Formats: sequence, structure tokens, C-alpha cells
Amino acid sequence: MSVTIYIPGDSGSLSLGAEKVAKAVEKEIAARGIDARIVRNGSRGLYWLEPMVEVVTDAGRVAYGPVAAKDVASLFDAGFVTGGEHRLSLGDPEKLPFVAKQTRLTFARCGITDPISLEDYEAHGGLVGLRNAVAMAPADIVKQVTESGLRGRGGAGFPTGIKWKTVLDTPGEQKYIVCNADEGDSATFADRMIMEGDPFVLIEGMAIAGLATHATKGYVYIRSEYPHAIAVMEKAVQVARRAGILGKSVLGSSQGFDIEIRSGAGAYVCGEETSLLNSLEGKRGVVRAKPPLPAIQGLFGKPTVINNVISLASVPIVMDKGAQYYKDFGMGRSRGTIPIQIAGNVKHGGLFEVAFGLTLGEIVDEIGGGTATGRPVKAVQVGGPLGAYFPRALFDTPFDYEEFAKRDGLIGHAGITVFDDSADMLKQARFAMEFCAIESCGKCTPCRIGSTRGVETLDKLKQNIEPEKQLALVTDLCNTMKFGSLCALGGFTPYPVMSAINHFPEDFRPAAVAQAAE
Ligand SMILES: Cc1cc2nc3c(=O)[nH]c(=O)nc-3n(C[C@H](O)[C@H](O)[C@H](O)COP(=O)(O)O)c2cc1C
Ligand code: SF4
Repeated sequence: MSVTIYIPGDSGSLSLGAEKVAKAVEKEIAARGIDARIVRNGSRGLYWLEPMVEVVTDAGRVAYGPVAAKDVASLFDAGFVTGGEHRLSLGDPEKLPFVAKQTRLTFARCGITDPISLEDYEAHGGLVGLRNAVAMAPADIVKQVTESGLRGRGGAGFPTGIKWKTVLDTPGEQKYIVCNADEGDSATFADRMIMEGDPFVLIEGMAIAGLATHATKGYVYIRSEYPHAIAVMEKAVQVARRAGILGKSVLGSSQGFDIEIRSGAGAYVCGEETSLLNSLEGKRGVVRAKPPLPAIQGLFGKPTVINNVISLASVPIVMDKGAQYYKDFGMGRSRGTIPIQIAGNVKHGGLFEVAFGLTLGEIVDEIGGGTATGRPVKAVQVGGPLGAYFPRALFDTPFDYEEFAKRDGLIGHAGITVFDDSADMLKQARFAMEFCAIESCGKCTPCRIGSTRGVETLDKLKQNIEPEKQLALVTDLCNTMKFGSLCALGGFTPYPVMSAINHFPEDFRPAAVAQAAE
């Protein structure tokens, strides 16, 4: 009987040597005359164990990892094709604590199925949501998405159903669905992981959005630094077209919907929705003033839904299991699940999908296992480069949009970066200003000029030139940027800067005073 061996083919695992492992496994199979089939799956998101190889045995799937090419011959010697014991044995992957503690709704198939096999997708519950949507009126689809409580996972947390309703209610011959796959936030990889590991769930979500709003054309805007995601999405779109999911008629319905994959040249600001639309139109990626909202005048001036990958990929489960099912997960106004991406100086880095509500401390200490260096955690930046730094004193903050906002922070795209006690928060604050200066689109003064002045001021502080004056100046500058910027790049840069100053004042003390205290 043929054996199935899963070896991840996603970019994270490839960067850790998965291709060499696959070649070595192929070689051993041929040399030993074993009847086996290799499936290049996505990652389950336990990156410290990648490349994690799995074998289907009579007792279910058995995992081994992290596997290097040099381990492969010994794995075969140990009889791993039938689940034999080896020093890299991990047992049933579903029972690994990092997996067992998750609630995987959006990522239910990621790492389990063959990403570009539609049969596998359907065998694991795919297309049920789209089939349900085909049988519904657009307004009812919008209602179900609204009632699920799903909010945009790109950063702003805007209710997805309300955005869709605006597009549905706006008359227009042509409407568009744009998927924001720019994923520029530091420490984030959820969009990439799902596009590489389960691309059909995004295609299904986009098709449902099309049916819900009468949009017939969709674009996925993927950063050019994601060549593997682009390739997988291209392939999956072709498969979906051949299967009648995309094209002139969505699954035999009276409405058509098709998708084009576009790659962006890699500017952080091109993740901002209006800048992204300009870039898609072939213009410079400069932010547009709002109003008009993209939902009313978006791509090429037409009504446009623009949603993050995870927002769209979460729609099929809502349309499959119902609004209430999804809404039952979570806390407060943060409903459903959130794929938290744990990165930085952390022992167990990876993607952890869970209902909203876990505290930051649980995520960092229990799920992430503390720092990789073994030193104490000093700070955690939540929400990418525009997110605040949280000290241990705020580790009781539950993962929830409003709870984070109350503490002058944000969830953003749910990426967290862990820092140990060797981190210099003045350096991090300067980095935030420098990042803003480099990535600013230049349209408004507080961001374009303010960020450069911010770098200079923090440099003077570092050099101990009138430190108190510099601190007052930075605070004032942050206020101007926060309230005077056109978009969140300039408007949110004060979050990392001010949180570093407020929570870690010792790193901003004039050097002379600090030395005297030591
Ligand atoms: C500077 C900047 C960068 C952004 N980058 C991204 C990004 O990479 N991906 C994303 O989905 N949203 C990003 N956003 C948020 C988008 O503007 C927009 O809110 C989002 O695409 C809406 O989708 P959602 O409602 O599904 O979250 C960014 C915003 C700003 C201000
Ligand atoms: S805040 Fe910065 S990125 Fe945003 S519009 Fe102004 S200059 Fe451009």
C-alpha cells in the first residue's frame, strides 16, 4: 500500500531547509524501493519544529521534526514510514500542546491538506459556505456576515458586514473585491501562511464577497516578497476556474466572479487601503484623502470591498456554520478567533489561532514559552511597527480590540514581537520614527517632516543634549503626528514611541543621571 508523506512547501519551512529534506526523502524512497507519495502541504505554524514531516500510518498521522536532510536516512532506518520511533518523533501532531490548545476555524485545513487539491479542500469541509451563499440573496449574506461579528483583521477592526453593506447599497455597473495581501507588519505571516497552505479558503471568501455585493471581479494584491504565495494563489485560481468556482458563473449561479493576482513592489504604505488602490491602478502608492470611502469610490472609482486576507478567509466558516457559531467564540465586541503570530525573541514562535480573550501574558509565557535566549521578557510589541510596547505590568491585557485600545495599544494584524531585557527602548523608539520617515508616502507634513525631526530629537536625547527638553519635544511631536496625520502611518507611530517612553522611562533618562543611579 502506498505511504503518504507530508513535507511542508511553504516559504517559512523552505527557509528552514524543507526543499533539501524533500529531495532527501525522494532519494531514499527510490533507493529503498518504497511505494510512497510526497505531498507538499502548508505549515501547521509551529515554526520551531519546521520542517515538520508527517507520515500517514494505520494509527493516523505521525510527526517528526525539526527534520534536516542529514536526518532522513536515519528516519527511514527507524521505520518512520510506519511511524517508527526516532529521536525526532513528535507523535500525533494534533496532540502537540501548541496545536491542541488552538481553536482553528480559519486555519482549520492549513498544514493538513494538499494546498492545491480541490478534492482535499472539499473533503475537509471546503465550499460548503459558498454553496450556501449561492442559494441566498446578497442582503442575507451581508446580514449573516454582519451578525457573526467578524471585524477586519488588517488592523483597523472595522466590521466586515457593514463594509459589504455599503458596497451592496451603492449602485454601480462594475464593483470590485480587493484582497489586501500586502502584509507589511513586522512579525506577521498569517496571510502568507494561509495563501500558501489553504489558498481555496481565500478564493471561496472572495467569491462569497462577490455574490454578496454584485462584484464580478476580484484582485489579490500580494507583496512581491511573497513569491511562493503568489505562485500558489496563481495555481489555485486556475484550478478554481476549471472547477467552475470562478468564471462566468460561480458554481452554476447567475453571477460570475473572477480573480486576478497582482504583485506590489513592496512599500509598507501600499498596505494602506487607498494607497494600495492607487498602486493597483498603476499609480504611485500615495494615500488618498477620505472621503470618498473605497466602498463608494474605490478601485478605478468604482464601489470596492477592500479586506484583509484573514477577514476574507474567515467568511467561509461563517457561511458554513452560521453567524451564531462564529460569534460564540471571543469576548466583548471581538468575536470569533484570531490567528496570533508569535515572533521575535521567543522560544515557540509560530501561528496560534484562538478565540479572542487570552491575556498577553498567557500568549507570551505559556504559549510562546518565554524568550529564546532564556532571559526575562522586557517588552512585547503588539500590532506591528505602529503598535505599542507592552511591559510585563500590562500582561493581564486580554487580546481584544477595545481592551488593547484602553491601554493605548492596538492588536493590528495580531503579530507580537517579544524582546528580552537586553532591549534598549530608546533605540526602539528611534527605530519607530526612522521606519516612519523611510516609509512615509510624503503626502502630509506631520508624518513626512515630523518623523525625521523625531529621529533627530531622539538622537540628541541619546547624546544627552538637553535631555528634558528633547523628551518634551518628542511628546509634543507625537501629539502633532497623532492628531494631524492623514493616515495611520504617521498617526500611529506615536504609539511605539510614547509607550516606550512611558513604560520604560529608565531607558530615556539622561545618561549622567542614569550613571549616578548605578
Ligand atoms: C500604513 C498602513 C499599512 C497597512 N498595511 C496593511 C496590510 O499590510 N494589510 C492589511 O490587510 N491592512 C493594512 N492596513 C489597513 C488597511 O488600510 C485597511 O484597513 C484594511 O485593508 C481593511 O481590511 P479589513 O477591514 O479586512 O481589515 C494598513 C494601514 C496603514 C495605515
Ligand atoms: S501619514 Fe504619512 S503615509 Fe499617511 S498620508 Fe501622511 S505622509 Fe502619507
